[in-house]
Amino acid sequence: MWFKKKNIETEKPVYPRHIAIIMDGNGRWAKKRGMPRSFGHKAGVAVAEKIIDYAIDIKLQHISLYAFSTENWQRPDEEISTLMTLFDTYAEKVINRYYAEKTERYKSLYIRFLGDTSVLSPSIREKIDTIEVLNRERTPSTIVNIAVNYGGRREIVKAVNDFIARNPGKHITEADIEKYLYFSGQPDPDLIIRTGGEMRLSNFMLWESAYSEYYSCPVYWPDFSPEDLDRAVIDFNKRTRRFGGV
Ligand code: FPP
Repeated sequence: MWFKKKNIETEKPVYPRHIAIIMDGNGRWAKKRGMPRSFGHKAGVAVAEKIIDYAIDIKLQHISLYAFSTENWQRPDEEISTLMTLFDTYAEKVINRYYAEKTERYKSLYIRFLGDTSVLSPSIREKIDTIEVLNRERTPSTIVNIAVNYGGRREIVKAVNDFIARNPGKHITEADIEKYLYFSGQPDPDLIIRTGGEMRLSNFMLWESAYSEYYSCPVYWPDFSPEDLDRAVIDFNKRTRRFGGV
């Protein structure tokens, strides 16, 4: 395997502040193995955990993972049910492992579930609420955003409505919208990685991605590794960002 890693041995990635990932390819990964899609999603959660651990290692300040979109409700009931069970189990693990364990390693980890979580099961919502309360006692060095029932368009509409409700009749500005986004207060993603080879945004971080760099890699999410993340960052490091200037 050393040859695959060659470029990352010679080039050192310089990590930006915020990396967002569209985790795609779980279904195809499972299909290739003659297994049901749920098998791919289970493997996908394990990889997300590995990448979160790596984010701590490399001291990444913000990492955002697209776990379930507002459009994903169109999937078969059985698949939705598997995903919800996985989110519930994961939230439980977050509480019991990352927040209960008083180790240096996880002390400054800050996990957030962003999106319209109001429609999730009471069991998941309870755990998300518990995590939010626990977050208040922490000073984060790595913030992990897990987007669940998240839609970029819905996020913007929510922000506008929240603003209007509090400021009836007032002219709205970009700063006003930013204040009410789910991602409010966090820097925009510098780099958005999509696994699974497709090249689209699928309603992810529409507002925040105005000047993000995109990177698509063919690897299915369950095969994604820290080396793949480094490869994406090395590619990102070579780009010139002009933010509309020259
Ligand atoms: C798309 O793959 C992926 C998703 C719908 C997200 C699922 C993500 C996970 C299970 C990881 C969740 C992580 C945490 C930390 C809770 P797909 O099913 O569309 O794949 P396909 O394009 O090959 O069909």
